[in-house]
Amino acid sequence: MTRPKTKILVDGGDPQETRQVKQLLGFVDGQTTNPSLIAKNPHIRELIASGHKLSNREEMDEYKKIVETISPLVGDGGVSIEVFSDEKTTAAEMFSQGKEMFSWIPNAYIKYPCTAEGLRAAQMSVRHGIRVNITLCFSQQQAAAVYAATKGTKEPAYVSPFVGRLDDIGENGMDVVKNIKRMFLQGDGHVLVLAASIRSLEHLLYCFVLDTELVTVPAAILDQWARKNFPLPDKQFQYKASGKPIPYKELDLEQPWETFDIQNELTRKGIEKFAADYRATLLRSA
Ligand code: E4P
Repeated sequence: MTRPKTKILVDGGDPQETRQVKQLLGFVDGQTTNPSLIAKNPHIRELIASGHKLSNREEMDEYKKIVETISPLVGDGGVSIEVFSDEKTTAAEMFSQGKEMFSWIPNAYIKYPCTAEGLRAAQMSVRHGIRVNITLCFSQQQAAAVYAATKGTKEPAYVSPFVGRLDDIGENGMDVVKNIKRMFLQGDGHVLVLAASIRSLEHLLYCFVLDTELVTVPAAILDQWARKNFPLPDKQFQYKASGKPIPYKELDLEQPWETFDIQNELTRKGIEKFAADYRATLLRSA
């Protein structure tokens, strides 16, 4: 296969799946996890099915074991580990989890939600040399805020625009990826675009066209790609969007992050769902 320039990450929470993808592709550049994917991990499911709900500490320990197993399987895209947060979690609380999670493996990226508290936690993290991935990003403004909040980071920060969830509400999710890439042309390159919430082969191929630095893909889609013998988009490739176009906005990346409008209903809902999936594995509510 001709390897695309875009790094390919596995979007999942099961090391066995990562091994299978690695066998299929011959490589895996990295991995992203989130609370919903961890709740679906076969070992965690078995524990829950046998009536063993977890304490917060046990949940952290299980998460650690999962990423420790995945860590040596992947390349320099690293393993993204998501902090637990709900609408009440403060930046200091997120940062404290992030610090612990970052110590688990040598190639960790800490995922914080694209909210004011999440961005504050990211800002503290990059000052301490902790690599970050800002997740649940649904707009160009949010990506601009990520850029501004992580300025000065020693290592590139990731921003994860969620394509499929925008498509789900009738918008063209790939437009956000395209707009962010265009906006970052004016920047200094410290934020890399990691396209997420990928639901189809067309999404994946269009990420290659847009030259996203990274893309995180469920194993099932990578399997489809492999079955078709790893096609890459040619000059004729045209992405057929079904949703409403999202127009490009002129934004000044040099402004403080607090000046960007980062409110987004999908970010709020995403946090709610992650928190619910995390809590479903717990003995008592966190
Ligand atoms: C990865 O970082 C994201 O958490 C993931 O791609 C979300 O995908 P979903 O919208 O299919 O849940």
